[in-house]
Amino acid sequence: MNEQDMTTHPALAKWVQKMIDLCCPDRVHWCDGSQQEWDQITEMMVASGTFIRLNPEKRPNSFLARSTPSDVARVEDRTFICTKRKDQAGPTNNWAEAGEMREKMVGRFQGCMRGRTMYVIPFCMGPMDSTLAKIGVQVTDSPYVVVNLRIMTKMGKEVFNRLEDEKSGSAPRKRHGHGFFIPCAHTVGSPLEPGQKDAAWPCNEDKYICHFPETREVWSYGSGYGGNALLGKKCLALRIASNIAREHNWMAEHMLILGLHSPEGEKTYISAAFPSACGKTNLAMIVPPKPYADAGWKTTIVGDDIAWLWPHEDGRLHAINPENGYFGVAPGTSYKTNPIAMESMKANCIFTNVALTDDGDVWWEGLTEEKPMHLIDWQGRDWTPASATPAAHPNARFTAPASQCPTIDPDWQNPEGVPISAIVFGGRRPSTMPLVFQAFNWSHGVYLGATMGSETTAAAIGLKKQVRRDPMAMLPFTGYNMGDYFGHWLSMRRQIRVLPRFFPRELVPSG
Ligand code: OXD
Ligand code: MN
Repeated sequence: MNEQDMTTHPALAKWVQKMIDLCCPDRVHWCDGSQQEWDQITEMMVASGTFIRLNPEKRPNSFLARSTPSDVARVEDRTFICTKRKDQAGPTNNWAEAGEMREKMVGRFQGCMRGRTMYVIPFCMGPMDSTLAKIGVQVTDSPYVVVNLRIMTKMGKEVFNRLEDEKSGSAPRKRHGHGFFIPCAHTVGSPLEPGQKDAAWPCNEDKYICHFPETREVWSYGSGYGGNALLGKKCLALRIASNIAREHNWMAEHMLILGLHSPEGEKTYISAAFPSACGKTNLAMIVPPKPYADAGWKTTIVGDDIAWLWPHEDGRLHAINPENGYFGVAPGTSYKTNPIAMESMKANCIFTNVALTDDGDVWWEGLTEEKPMHLIDWQGRDWTPASATPAAHPNARFTAPASQCPTIDPDWQNPEGVPISAIVFGGRRPSTMPLVFQAFNWSHGVYLGATMGSETTAAAIGLKKQVRRDPMAMLPFTGYNMGDYFGHWLSMRRQIRVLPRFFPRELVPSG
């Protein structure tokens, strides 16, 4: 689609033109989010070798991507909060002076898309008619990002329309209003010389994931993987959103949202914060054991990774899930551990760094009790059960549309969100037994959440295997000073009349 058809929004048109002038792409594609666009881009990626189409009889409309071995997870040591002063980023974030980092990014982005297509992706985090919903526009040279964002966010023409309506005042004014969008600049940092053959997974060893909370911008350079590249997720919905939330009396949290439904029809919603790859998706998709299910107990999922919470006018804390899909960890997921996830990924999915079976389907450690006799591993090599390395990378992922989840909550898109009755804080502690207990009150709950510890996982590159303090599971995602974040949590107490209960877990040795 050409620009004239997509937007008359002056600030958006101006920003995109600025990025075109800077990045010098060979072509520009404004994404409309249509099925036709998905088909065209996925076919192009199959032809270029970035995607392998899975057996349509086993896994219709689904694809496998294999990344470069150095680009397999979030890069926490290359993630920056860029502000005027260091104390705005606080002791737990990597800080860079905003002006200096902007200059560095402009330098890196100069000509970075030569030989490539720039995709302009409009996306909305949260139900479109929610007052909390945030619109982002990502420019990227990664078609992998385009198709993932189509699953993970509300993406396409309707988002451009929404921006236009806000600009012209014909949509109800949102918190930001007037067609506000968060510019998200992304490149894999691998321009092509004329005639140069492209890599299946282009990226750059030099990586920067930069957030500018004061101007509400994201610049990401050099990685095509997960939270480094799908900028709506960790960058916008947590790091930038946590700044907006603090200023506007709400909270952006690394939490699942789960509904519990009694046989009498009573609904209770809980949110739970666990660090990355510590089981949020599994808990969000838990189903009651048979005797309880037979007695009429039910569970539903609102979200598996991010919750935006605000004091609703009914006096309770309400939550929405800003995402539209699941970017879940594949290894360990099976019909035994999480049948709901398995059902959600039967079609229309993207798998990254899992193994390929001989009949064109996917496999990963833990999927079946018996290992297949032969596979192609995540690096494209022959694999047998005798192989010394895992067939799937430990941070291999599935990207699946939330709408395909059999236990999706009927209110998951309700702009009013769902009322939260309990907040759980947890983590991964293989050598200890978690004992869940109830905090005395809000402040005690905040204290216990703030002191949470969890073992590091494969979701981030280069972390030593250790138990680290991970306050509210937000250590890598709080976009400002952690001390102010604790203060914000404490101050939210005053805005809520009907307080949720807190359920942290104490640790006792498992032996
Ligand atoms: C994720 C993460 O991908 O937390 O959700 O790393
Ligand atoms: Mn996460």
